[in-house]
Amino acid sequence: MHIANASVLDLKRRISEPLVIAIDGPAASGKGTLARRLADYFHLPHLDTGLTYRAVAHMLIDKGWSLDDEAHAIEAARQVDLANLNKHALSAHRVGEAASRVAIIPELRRILVEKQRAFARNPAGAVLDGRDIGTVVCPDADVKLYVTASAEVRAMRRLRDIENRGGSAQLAGILADIRKRDERDTGRADSPLRPAADAHLLDTSEMSIEAAFQAARGIVDDTLAKRNAS
Ligand code: C5P
Repeated sequence: MHIANASVLDLKRRISEPLVIAIDGPAASGKGTLARRLADYFHLPHLDTGLTYRAVAHMLIDKGWSLDDEAHAIEAARQVDLANLNKHALSAHRVGEAASRVAIIPELRRILVEKQRAFARNPAGAVLDGRDIGTVVCPDADVKLYVTASAEVRAMRRLRDIENRGGSAQLAGILADIRKRDERDTGRADSPLRPAADAHLLDTSEMSIEAAFQAARGIVDDTLAKRNAS
């Protein structure tokens, strides 16, 4: 069953203050799809914060600079323009890998987090997804979701995506990459991937996209109902 978007009138009645939804989770957990669906449903702008780290990595690769070159990485972070993130150009696998390497640089994170917070200050609110949204970027978000799925399920989903786009890959290789990325994202000293204490956990291992969306929408609706009752 596909749920139509909430009508603007209904939302105006229910959402009188900004609504900020923070979504975190590991690579290929489905958080991006969920974030887009929620943003669409609640008529909110959406920022995939992974793209900001990817934009930095892409710039370094493009200019032939080393991923360990902190000064250039920081310079690249200053140049990131949220209005000009080219999802298509940034979606390559090696850009994601490179992004997780530059994402360990604290000063670079500080610069990108400032830009992400500015986005979240939109008067109606916003949906942001990433690794540290509920813990660092928007610790006061109205709703925090932590989306997970087993590494095996995530690897299968990624393989299906690649095949649907006409490509081919080995499941074992994808699984190894996902595990490596998880290790890097959860193990770094600055803003590691972890659920905020007040996040709702959503394990999508055995859920369809539609079921995950309905569960997430229910959590947001409950929050709105409580907010309106108080
Ligand atoms: O989500 P995506 O795969 O596009 O992110 C690429 C990398 O950027 C992640 O593996 C992570 O290292 C980094 N990232 C981050 N904080 C975020 C979003 C992404 O450190 N909020």
